[in-house]
Amino acid sequence: MHAPLLAPSLLAGDHANLGASAAVVSQLGLTWLHIDIMDGHFVPNLSFGPQIVTALRKPSKLFFDVHLMLDEPHRYVEAFAKAGANLISIHIEPAYDHAATLARIRALGCKCGIVLNPDTPAESIAPFLAQVDLVLVMTVQPGFGGQSFRQDMLPKIAQIDRWRRERGLDFRLEVDGGIDVKTAAECRSVGADTFVAGTSFFTAPDRAAFATAMANL
Ligand code: DX5
Ligand code: ZN
Repeated sequence: MHAPLLAPSLLAGDHANLGASAAVVSQLGLTWLHIDIMDGHFVPNLSFGPQIVTALRKPSKLFFDVHLMLDEPHRYVEAFAKAGANLISIHIEPAYDHAATLARIRALGCKCGIVLNPDTPAESIAPFLAQVDLVLVMTVQPGFGGQSFRQDMLPKIAQIDRWRRERGLDFRLEVDGGIDVKTAAECRSVGADTFVAGTSFFTAPDRAAFATAMANL
């Protein structure tokens, strides 16, 4: 079982000073930064492009966990790999060649992940489990930070964790949306090990205490 890992989401950082927000994460001794990429089509919002990832990459040693919320992710994986992504996750919902795109991400030297929305059944990603380094279960409808955690995602997380154990796989199982210490503990109890936290991390009165609590889940 993987140790619990906190991945603060830059979406909730200071958009006028993203480098400083990334530095806050590394100064706490954390190693991952979750970076949300939105295209205004797959989700009704826009966020960051590859140039921002390139700019953040230069001063940072953080592991960039790049979550592509795009209708055509296959068209952009190369740009984000070149920009310095360490892991690139793609959604299952749009129609494109998922297996080929995961293979392409690996060929570009990155780890790869598959993501599913709250209304997408676990079965949809089952064929890809042996091919990925991470499965990301959305615990809110993607597009915006600050939404409430969906309790009804817990059985889905448990199912994916069951498949992982049954098949002897070791991908990380990440959750994203409405994650705080309490909801992370619920996800941990059913097998999640990687916790994206935007609002709860950046608004925590004591971020070091928050990080410690997440590390001790
Ligand atoms: C939502 C993004 C999340 C977002 C989470 O579409 O994928 O990564 O930053 O924000 P919080 O933690 O505030 O729910
Ligand atoms: Zn995300």
